[in-house]
Amino acid sequence: MKAQDPNPGSVFPKVFNVQRHLLNLLSYVLLFVGGLTLGVVLVHLKDFSFGLQFAQSPFSTLSSPPPSNHSQILIMPNATAPTTSMSLTPDPRIGLKEYLKPPKVFHDMNDTELLWRASMSPRIPEYPFHLVPKIAFMFLARGPVLLAPLWEKFFEEHQGFYSIYVHSEPSHNQLSYAGSSVFHGRRIPGDLKVKWGTVSLIEAERLLLANALLDISNQRFVLLSEACIPLYNFSTVYSYLINSKETFVEVYDDPSAVGRGRYYFVQYPGISVEQWRKGSQWFEIDRDLAIEVVSDRKYFPVYRRCRGECFADEHYLPTFVNIKFGAKNANRTLTWVDWAKGGPHPTEYMSSNVTVELLNGLRTGYGRRCEYNGRSTHVCFLFARKFPPSALDSLLRIAPKIMHFNNVAP
Ligand SMILES: *[C@@H]1O[C@H](CO)[C@@H](O)[C@H](O)[C@H]1NC(C)=O
Ligand SMILES: *[C@@H]1O[C@H](CO)[C@@H](O)[C@H](O)[C@H]1NC(C)=O
Ligand SMILES: *[C@@H]1O[C@H](CO)[C@@H](O)[C@H](O)[C@H]1NC(C)=O
Ligand SMILES: *[C@@H]1O[C@H](CO)[C@@H](O)[C@H](O)[C@H]1NC(C)=O
Ligand SMILES: *[C@@H]1O[C@H](CO)[C@@H](O)[C@H](O)[C@H]1NC(C)=O
Ligand SMILES: *[C@@H]1O[C@H](CO)[C@@H](O)[C@H](O)[C@H]1NC(C)=O
Repeated sequence: MKAQDPNPGSVFPKVFNVQRHLLNLLSYVLLFVGGLTLGVVLVHLKDFSFGLQFAQSPFSTLSSPPPSNHSQILIMPNATAPTTSMSLTPDPRIGLKEYLKPPKVFHDMNDTELLWRASMSPRIPEYPFHLVPKIAFMFLARGPVLLAPLWEKFFEEHQGFYSIYVHSEPSHNQLSYAGSSVFHGRRIPGDLKVKWGTVSLIEAERLLLANALLDISNQRFVLLSEACIPLYNFSTVYSYLINSKETFVEVYDDPSAVGRGRYYFVQYPGISVEQWRKGSQWFEIDRDLAIEVVSDRKYFPVYRRCRGECFADEHYLPTFVNIKFGAKNANRTLTWVDWAKGGPHPTEYMSSNVTVELLNGLRTGYGRRCEYNGRSTHVCFLFARKFPPSALDSLLRIAPKIMHFNNVAP
């Protein structure tokens, strides 16, 4: 003990020495307890600020419409975590946040799991949170969406009101868009090979729908090809679709060889020729119908009977809608296409064809009138095809003005 005495030459009595040792011990204990407390507090503070940040991101999107980032979560559960109040809550409320967070576009569910997950739907129609409805733009493409630069202009400054999904051939798996592109990271996973005229087209459409359904804020679903262009600006397209009381699947009865003839060619058990319909592949539907399509286990398998070119893309959805969901359907497509020249492929508009007159003609459907929510309108088509990549430069030069993209002066 003596050797450890810091004051060996001390003249203090022994009893005082013992007291001093006790004091030392006490201060060590106090120091230890203090350190422990500080540590615990710091750890909690870290948890708290992390939770706060997480909880706040939805609020920041709420306070600044239009939200600045399309990949952000747009569901704003109210009554969630504290906003700025400084009470140290170790476990901020989670609420619906985690459940409603849309998964990343790249997930590892297989098709069975994905379709099952996508078929879920709430049965209580009122949302207990604020939902900004989004439109899912689903691109069915062979490779890259070559008209992407035009679409970029269309989407510019409207983040938060749309989601993009791209299905492209497995050989384009490695394909990537610039980090700043709205198409970046929007390719849906999978290795489905799509063959023109075959049922694989429907399979790809169902996968696009299923992926888009995983995000509950997607309320309208539009299928586009890589050769499609928009005919109006984003705000016009958005309000047209979001406010529509109808779905847009073209449905008609064609008694000819390329209509009913295709029914007799295969025969589809469970579907009568009277129910058989034809229509454009390019549809625009609401969430209810999208869920029905991914959940359909009765009619879709029937189409799989035909393995060759049965043009299921032109018959499956029109027939399905005609049998079960006709009442709410407009029976017309929103995508202009010109079949006037006949043959299996529609007119393609070359670079030299892209003029102010052409685009204005398409925008008004060349004088056509149609019904929208029970009223007559000349806005019959919101999209048009087919435009090859070589038309891109002309489109970029003319379209933004004609279509009032973000107030580009005409
Ligand atoms: C969108 O948000 C993500 C993460 O929140 C960020 O990494 C990305 O840079 C943002 N993109 C744009 C265009 O703001
Ligand atoms: C998907 O995964 C489930 C569970 O592992 C399995 O039962 C099912 O057969 C798989 N489906 C496909 C299409 O691979
Ligand atoms: C959440 O917001 C909705 C409307 O946005 C409101 O009807 C509901 O009462 C709110 N719920 C809570 C718990 O504040
Ligand atoms: C569309 O066709 C269905 C039958 O498939 C019909 O019930 C419905 O009224 C039609 N809709 C319009 C807008 O004509
Ligand atoms: C497109 O332009 C070519 C000539 O450049 C012309 O032959 C063709 O008819 C035009 N097509 C349309 C649909 O206007
Ligand atoms: C969209 O186009 C309409 C005319 O079609 C125009 O009135 C509106 O200002 C445009 N919106 C934006 C954001 O530029």
